[in-house]
Amino acid sequence: MSYETIIATREEGVGIVTLNRPKILNALNLKLVDELVAELEKLDKDPDIRAILLTGNDKAFAAGADINEMAEDSAIAIMKRDQFAVWDRISLISKPIIGAVSGFALGGGCELMMNCDIVIASETAVIGQPEVKLGVMPGAGGTQRLVRAVGLRKAMEMLLTGEPISAQEALRYGLVNRVVPVEAYLQEALKLAKQIAAQPPLAVQMIKRAAHKADDLPLQEGMEYERNGFYLLLASEDRKEGMQAFLEKRKPRFTGN
Ligand code: CAA
Repeated sequence: MSYETIIATREEGVGIVTLNRPKILNALNLKLVDELVAELEKLDKDPDIRAILLTGNDKAFAAGADINEMAEDSAIAIMKRDQFAVWDRISLISKPIIGAVSGFALGGGCELMMNCDIVIASETAVIGQPEVKLGVMPGAGGTQRLVRAVGLRKAMEMLLTGEPISAQEALRYGLVNRVVPVEAYLQEALKLAKQIAAQPPLAVQMIKRAAHKADDLPLQEGMEYERNGFYLLLASEDRKEGMQAFLEKRKPRFTGN
């Protein structure tokens, strides 16, 4: 598949998706989000891919929804095409998504970052939800995921002022996992993605699903979901191989079955 707004490559079981509208800081127009979702869903179905790396460039992960595209549209036109509904499909991707985030991650860029399961940020990352300054509000999950990620107080400050936070502050609030120099964030994220890609994929996907349920389910139901996942994985060949390899003191060879 050839794309106009993203670049899709792969390396050792990792599908790499690079947002590619550098002239306007990877502003997320409709085409980009459609292409991104199409590629993520393709990678999710591909048995050779076990982890996904999502990145932009050093200057911008993404500076938000494309304001040029939205500025003249009527509320009814945007509602009729249900512009942000396609984003829900990103949260249904079952393989882990590692974000490599540098520069601006604003508005939809921050919302996209929050759809990643693990985020490696460069020291230059600038993260925020500036929609209020445009007279609107986040539309792709910002008010919901930011509160879950950093707590109500910090989220309120970010959402109501529209002021971004630095990579270090994002690290303090648990919004990103690690902050590294700009020269290193991509390699660091790729290394992590490859490490996860080498794990048994059924277990990885089940863990991702169960961990996300923690946001939605009461504890007891979440525990039950986890336990059923555990029992199910006992039926996998990779479980046999993993345990056998441990007992034989050798490296396991996981097949994804
Ligand atoms: N949409 C469209 N174009 C954008 C853009 C966006 N979100 N962000 C930046 N650009 C364009 C600029 O218009 C500029 O284009 P030109 O060269 O043609 O003038 C180019 O990218 C470079 O940007 P700047 O010259 O502004 O660069 P800067 O370094 O001075 O400032 C910035 C960078 C602080 C990120 C600034 O560009 C900015 O504030 N961008 C808008 C950020 C924003 O408000 N995002 C939220 C969008 S709404 C949303 O995302 C809703 C949602 O919930 C999904």
